[in-house]
Amino acid sequence: MTNVTTSPAVRRLNFGFGALDGQTDTDKYFADGSMVFSHLIAILSAIFPPGEDIFVRSVRRYSDQLADPDLRRQVAGFIGQEKTHALHHRELNEQLAAMGYPTAWFEYLLQFTERMEKFLDKQYPGPDRLPRLRHFFLGFTVAAEHFTATWAENILKRPEVQAMMYDPEIRNLLNWHALEELEHKSVAFDVYRAVGVPESTRIRWMRFAQNCGVPLLVLAAWVSIATTDQTGRRQPIRILRETVQMLRTPMWSGFYSAMRPFKKTGFHPDQIDTTELVAYWQRELFGTDGQLADHVR
Ligand SMILES: [Fe+2]
Ligand SMILES: [Fe+2]
Repeated sequence: MTNVTTSPAVRRLNFGFGALDGQTDTDKYFADGSMVFSHLIAILSAIFPPGEDIFVRSVRRYSDQLADPDLRRQVAGFIGQEKTHALHHRELNEQLAAMGYPTAWFEYLLQFTERMEKFLDKQYPGPDRLPRLRHFFLGFTVAAEHFTATWAENILKRPEVQAMMYDPEIRNLLNWHALEELEHKSVAFDVYRAVGVPESTRIRWMRFAQNCGVPLLVLAAWVSIATTDQTGRRQPIRILRETVQMLRTPMWSGFYSAMRPFKKTGFHPDQIDTTELVAYWQRELFGTDGQLADHVR
């Protein structure tokens, strides 16, 4: 069974994020009216661009080694999609920064990996040098791609999650990003297999992501509120209440159980069939009269 049969389509879009000015609470807390959830979505948007740059570098390092021309086409589509996600999230991040969210900080902190990787790639250009380190990044990418694909499935399958995004353009961005995450969900994994990285590397990364991913995000949301949100600093009880509410939202339903199959040897992302969900959202967003047909450049 194969979910992806053609190379992932790269779509450049026009988003109009300027409508939010963050002057009122409903405007600033665009995710379900919740301070914690809104800071968490802002953090995700902030870490996507540097994170996606890591995914692109870790896969592109091996693209010349791939013998299968179809996989090379898939890799080109994957890189194009991830680069476009980073581009449009950076547009949103500028808007979020203007609203008081510390998006620039999170991006800056993550850019240290870029500096380190670029130094090592320059110093040791052959893909066979430092193989463990390169496998480490590819393993991280494969685990993170499963994380985002699971998230994407949850977002696209549940109208309740859609309804939690009060701002239509942020909802559009998340839906488009989620669709493309499902379109290319197997590409990094196929590269990982073609390169012959041991299964244990990706499984160890998933254990880390599963145990630490959500706690780290919650911690980052609290730091974000404590350092930049005057309203939040004065309302610790609200922060605790909203943290519990946020973790109970349908966005996280079944999240941990969906990570389990990935930790088995022999797992492949196409074992989770999302073909119909992808086809539905391709029509819904980009078909004739699709929700984002007028956004396409
Ligand atoms: Fe992405
Ligand atoms: Fe992705």
